Parts: sequence; structure tokens; C-alpha cells
Amino acid sequence: MSRPGTRVNPSCPVGFFDSGVGGLCVRDAFVRRLPHEDTVYIADTANCPYGNRPPDEIVRLARRHVRTLLARGCKMVVVACNTATAAAIDNLRATWPDVPFVGMEPAVKPAAMRSKSGVVGVLATQGTFNGRLYRETCARFAKSTTVLTVVADEFVTLVERGETSGARAEAAVRARVEPLLAAGADHIVLGCTHFPHLKPLIEQVAAGRAKVVEPSDAVARQAERLLADRGLLNPSGGSLHIFICTADRQRHALT
Ligand code: DGL
Repeated sequence: MSRPGTRVNPSCPVGFFDSGVGGLCVRDAFVRRLPHEDTVYIADTANCPYGNRPPDEIVRLARRHVRTLLARGCKMVVVACNTATAAAIDNLRATWPDVPFVGMEPAVKPAAMRSKSGVVGVLATQGTFNGRLYRETCARFAKSTTVLTVVADEFVTLVERGETSGARAEAAVRARVEPLLAAGADHIVLGCTHFPHLKPLIEQVAAGRAKVVEPSDAVARQAERLLADRGLLNPSGGSLHIFICTADRQRHALT
């Protein structure tokens, strides 16, 4: 499928989407690295969370976001959501072969390479753990590492509420991270883009016992490489950052 009515040139913006505010950490890493790029970010708060949705539903939502981003002239799409990458990136690439896509992958490889204990913990959604990409990454890069997986859906809710510190957030983080530390994990991989928003708290809980690994900077570097390969880096500009939210975030209000 071609890109209807868009003329791709370096001054076009880069599109991002996630189920909510999670992917903003990826967008921010990208903008820090490439300050001349304009961006359009879709936070699909109307359908958040994605973590337990069936893959075909996520594919449908992802395709809708890509259509919106392309209609706004985006020259590249960053799927700033591990769950959506797991479910939909193959479909997106097959549908829009001329669009460069960048997806998320839990940073199991660097964690396994650096681990001294031979145990790493991964925090992500069930959808991410169910994906082919995750299984293949573990099989390729963590053969001799024990990879412990923990689903932490409540982190998504906390982050959508903006509750990234305080007693409730700390208790939630301790409940998920302490068992990984007790099992000997010396690296904790943040495999969901919402979780870096809780990184200070996770680092506080893991202090002296485990390093916290998240791939936002690596994804930003990959996006830069892809743009450079296609001659699409913007030499100037970078003052426009559009944020689209599909619903009132009040639905995550404190209860
Ligand atoms: N931020 C997303 C991810 O990286 C989705 C979390 C959710 O909506 O469940 O997986």
C-alpha cells in the first residue's frame, strides 16, 4: 500500500504511538538525540491498556494510528510500545513497505551480556511476553541466562495517573521487583515503555543489587540510523511537537 497524498522529505515529522504516555520516554530520547526533528505523538488512552488485548485487536488499533500519522505526513513511524510491536509490527511493515518503522524490543541482549549472576529479570506486559520477537530474542541472546519474567500491568495504570512516586507507587514497585532481586537478578529490564517513568523508584528499590536497563536511547539511535540511511534527517527545524490523545485521561483517575 502506498502513502496517500504525502510527499516525503526531510522536513516531515516523525510519528510515534503508544497506548498512552509510556512512549513519551522514547519520543523524548529521540528528540534529545535529534533536536531538529518535528514529531507527532499519539497516546491511545481511549484503549489503554493494550497489555491483555488480543493481538488482532492491537493490529487494528496500530493500523489506525499509522494511517493517522501518515495522513499528517510522517516520514517514519516509531511504534513506541512493546506490546504493539509484538502484535503488529510485521503487519505494519507488510502493509506499508515504503515506510520506515522502528519497533521496541525488551533489552534482554545487553542485560544477558552484562549479567554476572546469570539471572536477569524482565518486566513487561503479557502481550509482549507472548510475542515471537521476545521468544526469539531470549533464544538467541540469553541461552545461558536465566530470564525471569514478571507482568506488571499495575505500573501502566500508575503511570497513566501520573503517580510515579509516593507510597502506593513504591509498594507496587517493591512487590514486583523484590522477588526478582531475591532470585538473584542483577539486571532488571524494563520491557514496557510505561515503566521508565517509574525508573527512579525501580532504581531506588534495586540499588546496590541490580542495574535497571531500558532501551529508549538505543531505539533513538536506531531511528537516527534509519533516517540517515534514507537521507531523511532534518538539518533544521524541530520546533513542532504535536501530541494527540484519543480520550480524556480522567478514566485513570485515582480510585
Ligand atoms: N506501553 C506499552 C508497552 O510498551 C503498553 C502498555 C499497556 O498499555 O498495557 O507495552
